[in-house]
Amino acid sequence: MEDAATLEQQGREQLERATTADELEQARVETLGRSSALTLALRELGALPAELRGARGQELNRVRGELERLHTQLRERFETRELDAQLQAAAVDVTLPGDPVPRGTAHLLTQVQREIEDVFVGLGFRIAEGPEVELEYYNFTALNTPDDHPSKAESDTLWIGPGVCLRTQTSPVQVRVMEQQPPPVYVICPGRVYRRDALDPTHSPMFQQVEGLAVDKGLSLAHLKGTLEHFARALFGPDREIRLRSHYFPFTEPSVELDVSCFLCGGAGCRVCSGEGWIEILGAGMVDPNVFGFVNGYDPEVVSGWAFGMGIERVAMLKYGIPHVKSFYDNDVRFLEQFRGAVR
Ligand code: PHE
Repeated sequence: MEDAATLEQQGREQLERATTADELEQARVETLGRSSALTLALRELGALPAELRGARGQELNRVRGELERLHTQLRERFETRELDAQLQAAAVDVTLPGDPVPRGTAHLLTQVQREIEDVFVGLGFRIAEGPEVELEYYNFTALNTPDDHPSKAESDTLWIGPGVCLRTQTSPVQVRVMEQQPPPVYVICPGRVYRRDALDPTHSPMFQQVEGLAVDKGLSLAHLKGTLEHFARALFGPDREIRLRSHYFPFTEPSVELDVSCFLCGGAGCRVCSGEGWIEILGAGMVDPNVFGFVNGYDPEVVSGWAFGMGIERVAMLKYGIPHVKSFYDNDVRFLEQFRGAVR
């Protein structure tokens, strides 16, 4: 018959050997479970002579109490340790520096477009848009463009189907806007345009324009010139001079091209202006009365107007010294990120 002290000693050792909660549970079954030496000894108490039974019973129950206490203690220790480990594994250290999220920037073309928009919105113009897949009617016919005009040829225009093309200019938005509202009109129309051009340093089959249209009573070329001068100075610096050269567009009469004095050399002649002192920026002119004939409510005896159109890529290339138009579309981040916050 094992004496109680030995049972206690063995039980303690067994419980204390456990290194995990599972091992402890196994040790509990072995020391305190139904077939443990201690339980057997307790069961055998009844067979003992009465005079021995009391003292041994007390001893064994004390041992059981001790081992149970020890087991509870150890179990709690394991539980805390395991909980700690779980918490630690799941912990977020809010004091660690975070992974930097690379901050993007608006594409340079978007920035320049917004800069142009800001100038005209500041003058009271509103922004209008039109579709890139456009009817021949808006892109050519209503813009007073004769059927045999070379710009309509397969070689110049990307035709989608009969009477439908990718717009070659933002000028069709002029007619769309006038169809939707009576005069006065002061709008600018930014958007993509398409031409059947091969990619070279200054041409791309897709590029972006900003159109401007003003129609009101008594508008003259002087208003156009003053507006464009304000625009040129806002974009290229307060010292810029402008000049208008006569030109031809089917939908304006008279038509002009706008030159801005070179912002690099100030007019003396340099690489940027090819020695000219002047840089061509856009096409413009007084709205041809024939164009008003395509919309209701615009009587050329009552209202007059002017329009202009410029390429955003061209303005951006000049202003930021970019040698090849394809840099805008390559989406090389090393190029693009140079222009973070380029425009104010
Ligand atoms: N649409 C013309 C072009 O793409 C530019 C222009 C616009 C000219 C408005 C006059 C008036 O070349």
